[in-house]
Amino acid sequence: MATLADAGLTFTSLPHPSPTGADQRAAILANPGFGTHFSDHMVVIEWTEGQGWHDAVIGPRQPIALDPAASVLHYAQEIFEGLKAYKQADGSIALFRPEANAARFNRSAERLAMPELPEALFVESIERLVQADRDWIPEAEGASLYLRPFMIATEAFLGVRPAKQYKFIVIASPAGNYFKSGAPAVSIWVSDYTRAAPGGTGAAKCGGNYAASLVPQGEAIARGHDQVVFLDAAEHKWIEELGGMNLYFVFDDGTLLTPELTGTILPGITRDSLLTLAREEGLTVTEGRYSIDQWREDAKSGRLVETFACGTAAVVTPVGKVSGRDGEFTVGSGGPGQLTQKLKSRLVAIQRGQEADTHGWIRKI
Ligand code: COI
Repeated sequence: MATLADAGLTFTSLPHPSPTGADQRAAILANPGFGTHFSDHMVVIEWTEGQGWHDAVIGPRQPIALDPAASVLHYAQEIFEGLKAYKQADGSIALFRPEANAARFNRSAERLAMPELPEALFVESIERLVQADRDWIPEAEGASLYLRPFMIATEAFLGVRPAKQYKFIVIASPAGNYFKSGAPAVSIWVSDYTRAAPGGTGAAKCGGNYAASLVPQGEAIARGHDQVVFLDAAEHKWIEELGGMNLYFVFDDGTLLTPELTGTILPGITRDSLLTLAREEGLTVTEGRYSIDQWREDAKSGRLVETFACGTAAVVTPVGKVSGRDGEFTVGSGGPGQLTQKLKSRLVAIQRGQEADTHGWIRKI
């Protein structure tokens, strides 16, 4: 990873006293939910054509001024990441695989015709924010500080071409469970909509992908489900992913399958970590195609024993009931399966410093 000096940058620090009282913060941290509370600071770094990255500032979290003609508001030139800071067993703080987020951020940037951000700058921005807002990291089991780095096109220009000005921003939000219901497993609606087409932006973490998932996700909720599952665009047959999570299937012979990265699926960092952990558990892991008809048939025959969703926000979440135009089925017992729980507890133990980090995934701050 290049250094900050290579990028010719130093940070200006504008700390400010927290506007949130200690009691109020403690109440939030005891029950943070997901995505509704925010820490005190933010990082902002500017990019201008011909100048590159400049003016890196960590200062008070506040609204940003945008020209109404800013490209992001018209053509959605925006990308983001999601990662977490965890309180460790020894009281220190650690990030989980931030370099992998930095690399994926740049792959998304390339797809959206945005400038590359040096990985060292991405990671240092996050580290500085976590240090400034360390009081906002919840300690409870299952809770963490969710970091949201993103980049937007800020140039005031209505022609359709890559913008000449951008802002990279990082904000932080104390996070508990992503799913409000607290149910032991989530239920899934099989969408008639598609998320991504071959050659499209499905593998990029761009806001537009999530905007397009809102109607299908709303339909799932209206039908009493927690999440939507998308099938491929070409044949409407192969399982791709949920609205913001990858999927895994566990079979009775100890094999594990996850949809392969065809370019229409987001290459999840949790997905990738679980591939490694599952292999260590002695499972045969395959990345391949799995159809909705096979999913239904295998769940009914009992060959399929578990299904789980995974992602930074969702961690590892069991899937119970699945419904679609062709009826409804339940996976395994409908609750958390043994392997799902085992993989989740190993992943969380590594993230929290309760299991040795033999993979070099933990970056202490
Ligand atoms: C994440 O898991 O970090 C995401 O960006 C997905 C979103 C559903 C919150």
